[in-house]
Amino acid sequence: MPKRSPDHPEDARARRVTPSLASPAPDTPTPLLGGLSPAQFMKKYWQKKPLLIRQAIPGIEAPLSRDELFALADQDDVESRLITHFRKRWALEQGPFAPDELPTPKTRQWTLLVQGADLHDDRARALLERFRFAPDARLDDLMISYASDGGGVGPHFDSYDVFLLQVHGKRRWRIGAQRDLSLQEGLPLKILANFEPEEEWVLEPGDMLYLPPHIAHDGVAEGECMTCSIGFRSPSTTELTSQFLYWLAERGTDAAASQNAGNPTLYRDPDQPAVAHPAQLPPALVERVSAVLAKVRWSDADVSSFVGSWLSEPKSNVVFDAPEKPLDEARFVARAAKNGITLDRRTILLYDARSYYLNGERCLLKEVRKWLPALADNRFLDGKRFVTLSHDSCVTALLHEWYCAGWIRLGVLA
Ligand code: SIN
Ligand code: CO
Repeated sequence: MPKRSPDHPEDARARRVTPSLASPAPDTPTPLLGGLSPAQFMKKYWQKKPLLIRQAIPGIEAPLSRDELFALADQDDVESRLITHFRKRWALEQGPFAPDELPTPKTRQWTLLVQGADLHDDRARALLERFRFAPDARLDDLMISYASDGGGVGPHFDSYDVFLLQVHGKRRWRIGAQRDLSLQEGLPLKILANFEPEEEWVLEPGDMLYLPPHIAHDGVAEGECMTCSIGFRSPSTTELTSQFLYWLAERGTDAAASQNAGNPTLYRDPDQPAVAHPAQLPPALVERVSAVLAKVRWSDADVSSFVGSWLSEPKSNVVFDAPEKPLDEARFVARAAKNGITLDRRTILLYDARSYYLNGERCLLKEVRKWLPALADNRFLDGKRFVTLSHDSCVTALLHEWYCAGWIRLGVLA
């Protein structure tokens, strides 16, 4: 993490967002998508078929150097994995890894994967910004992989959409749309039993491959290489259902209780006869439970609240960095009016017609409708825009609170 100066911590890192770093507008053709506009890409390729894009980001450099990536893999709060294929045997280890626990770059056939690099580094986060032509609610993370010559994770498939962006060195990708997705048994990672590649390319820095879910693929490094995977989450129906039911339970499903001074409605069975087989589950009891469950109701607004709260929840390893010496509200306002404010790279801010969802918390949009959608969409408000808000003490108090929690920062980050 960059060092911060003690007085005005964020100013040292404040830089302007250049237009090339922002995501392209929906109808603007862009090299990022091989000359297609995001609208055309979404219609023709998204979730449908692979797309190879030569020089999607010409002149790109790896957001982190090899040593910086290795340093990240040494941190406790960073999710990392080491995959080796020594003597034709796949092995997987979970991080953190001290530098001397990693094989040397000269050793062939190993790869280090660092998940969620965007949560730990602003340059990695800036790369994600370019992919915000898809909704934030779908954007998951930026994984950076380093591979020595011949390294890779083996032929496999993913259950999510991914952009595989080559940022250093070369990688040979082979892909196939096979139906047989059975896996080799007894391995520590998911390797396809019968990989049948149909296409093959060598990607160089700046080239990018988009893959929808379930396309078989295998990327093998040709010399040392680094690849950034921009991944999109696709929760399974089972996960969605269980999370929603959990959310519903937390919120309380007992409508009668709320009208009854909080007393829960109790299970009742005044007609229960005496039994000769006490261990037997009475069918009438099951019927009564079934009737209770059939009365559980939820509205579209409940579903919105659940989706917004759930998808804006930070990952479990996220810890916000509150400023060491926070400015008081007046000094915060003066500085924000000059330099603007930016969402911290870890902050997730979503909104719908009624509510906004900030790092898992739902609040009403009503009072903040004039400025919050702009902050959420752009992830920053410049000084001029901030000045227009600064006469409202409720707004400045709220933003100061977010600043003290480390959810927003002063300045505009590139
Ligand atoms: C990698 O970067 O090595 C693996 C990415 C992937 O295949 O999904
Ligand atoms: Co993959």
